[in-house]
Amino acid sequence: FFAILDRIESDDKIKAAVLISGKKDTFVAGADIKWFQTLKTKEDGLKAIQEGQAMFNRMEGMFEKRGVPTVAAIHGPALGGGLEIALACTERVCSNSPKTQLGLPEVQIGVLPAAGGTQRLPRLIGLVSALDMILTGKKVRPRKAKKLGIVSEVVPEPALFAAAKKRALKLAKAGKKTDKKSLSASLRDPNFYQSLALEKNPLGLNAVFAKAEKELLKKTRGNYPAPEKALDCIKVGLKKGITKGLEAEAEHFSDLLISKEARALQSIFFATIDLKKENGVDDPSVKARPINKVGVLGGGLMGGGIAAVNVRTAKLPTRINEVDYAGVGRGKQYLQKMLSKDVKRRIRSKAQADHMMQHLSGTTNYSGFANVDVVIEAVFEDIGLKQKVLQAVEEAGRDDVIFATNTSSLPITEIAKGSKHPETVIGMHYFSPVEKMPLLEIIVHPGTADWVTATCVELGKMQGKTVIVVNDGTGFYTSRILGPYMNETAYIMAEGAPVDVIDNALMDWGFPVGPVTLLDEVGIDVGVKVAGIMLEAFGDRMKAPGTLNALIDDERFGRKNNRGFYLYENGKKGKVDESVYGVLGITPNPGAVAKQEIQERLGLLMVNEAALCLQEDILRNPRDGDIGAIFGLGFPPFTGGPFSYVDLVGADTIVGKLEGYAAQHGERFKPAEILKDYAKSGKKFRR
Ligand code: NAI
Repeated sequence: FFAILDRIESDDKIKAAVLISGKKDTFVAGADIKWFQTLKTKEDGLKAIQEGQAMFNRMEGMFEKRGVPTVAAIHGPALGGGLEIALACTERVCSNSPKTQLGLPEVQIGVLPAAGGTQRLPRLIGLVSALDMILTGKKVRPRKAKKLGIVSEVVPEPALFAAAKKRALKLAKAGKKTDKKSLSASLRDPNFYQSLALEKNPLGLNAVFAKAEKELLKKTRGNYPAPEKALDCIKVGLKKGITKGLEAEAEHFSDLLISKEARALQSIFFATIDLKKENGVDDPSVKARPINKVGVLGGGLMGGGIAAVNVRTAKLPTRINEVDYAGVGRGKQYLQKMLSKDVKRRIRSKAQADHMMQHLSGTTNYSGFANVDVVIEAVFEDIGLKQKVLQAVEEAGRDDVIFATNTSSLPITEIAKGSKHPETVIGMHYFSPVEKMPLLEIIVHPGTADWVTATCVELGKMQGKTVIVVNDGTGFYTSRILGPYMNETAYIMAEGAPVDVIDNALMDWGFPVGPVTLLDEVGIDVGVKVAGIMLEAFGDRMKAPGTLNALIDDERFGRKNNRGFYLYENGKKGKVDESVYGVLGITPNPGAVAKQEIQERLGLLMVNEAALCLQEDILRNPRDGDIGAIFGLGFPPFTGGPFSYVDLVGADTIVGKLEGYAAQHGERFKPAEILKDYAKSGKKFRR
């Protein structure tokens, strides 16, 4: 790269340059994150960043100093350093391909754009839009990139190089930038006047920063330093000039790089990459069998969602079986709604959506199930019913048809007992809403064949999921670690802690929603039912306080019937429903249980249960436990998951705290043996 820059700078015949990728469908996808990990000290980070910045400054300066413009021709992802190098060019054009994405996702792995991204992007597209991209790490597609002014032109991929060349030569001839966004386009943009008024005067600028800081803290609750530091870089740059801004980037980046939050977020990133490569079984040579058609039993909340991701994301023909055509219709509606949104957001045309809809069919009698490869079952949570539909599938389908159940609590081993070929029975546990939740928990019973597991892992990946494979047991992994967490919420409430105090405490600790809100979402009736199943399997340590039954008697099921811990109006959650305290027979008292104690009692019980799952071989390794808790339940990502959290805090500290709570509240806090072992030996779960 330096050699080419030298040549451009020294060869007078070169009038302009185009920066285009030699890779087929990638511009530059960003820095190598593995390389980040080789930078062990702040000094390492500073040195690397300063070198990068100098290189990009040199590129940018080529036009100003020598009159040689550079145009980036972007096809495929231009992310992180990839977008930053394009921002250092004089202008940018991109292809209209769906593969083309532009963004600065650094904060998602705990660092910030430090090769000029926090400086050049706000100057190019305005502060408000740049904050939106830099603080969230969100990516934009070509049309949006043009609208924002990141690129000057969007063209079909085959025309990309020619378009970039033409623009570069035009720039060279004119000796100045053509346009970043045409004036008339800016004048038509309703945000333009507002951003002009806000950003062009110092008071307005301060107001934008103050608002951004407030909104950011509301979201991060101070747990994520990277976006806060990125905001500071932008502020320094706009107030004190780009040189100071770049210095702030280098300084903050090298602090963040060695922070525990960045290490945790990067470990999640690597775990998801590793999981993408795995087949879910010990023998890496086991291959998934081809999947050409999928059946879904039940078109309710889960079945509808599963059918929708099968068609829309995995692009597989899918057939829903329901008790009647009204049920089929409900199931199909799920996909229909998603596709209508796609059309509105111009992700696909109406014709494309209609065509896709044709890949989803329905039946009330298993017609069309003779040639399905995988059947995913999402009927009511009833063991007798599940075994009945399993037999019906085996009668209608091939001998090697896979039967995957989406049960949230019934042991797969039990369901498989009703099967003629139990080796094809497996659990595929999805989370609601299916299209949004990233995790798929696959559950194997002792007889599940490896090819069946590998095939379902592949199907999950095709549906866009991060897939973990766990062994069978009541509650599997995710529902199991949620059990004691939910029970303890009820205990703490019974001690007088108000609903919103509990929710806020856990959100401050880093969960995206509090446990009481979660209970309203899942359904209090469902929670009570699952609690009964857990109690039966694990005995007294999983016993919930009796208070929840009073809620069922009062017909409080949560959001689904607009009666729960919170008030609901037109589907929107409001304030705490104060009448719930009377039903529970308690007088709320914000000081009843200290915030730290609420966080520890709930958080540590979840961690301890995760450790028990590892000890009992439900989990195959701590990594899957970290990913399952974060992606399935929202365990605070900046900790890296329950096992990384133990590593961070120290198993001895965790064991000490659990023993302290056990002395006060009893057996349910008894630390797992494996935690005690790790406390004694000082071993780490993840590193
Ligand atoms: P739902 O009540 O919304 O849907 C169940 C559907 O199954 C209904 O539409 C019903 O008509 C249909 N059905 C009943 N008997 C049938 C039969 N013999 N053949 C075909 N269809 C039949 O329930 P939901 O919430 O979708 O749950 C389904 C399963 O997914 C349950 O096992 C549940 O435990 C599990 N699950 C639920 C989650 C949730 O958040 N709701 C999360 C993960 C798993």
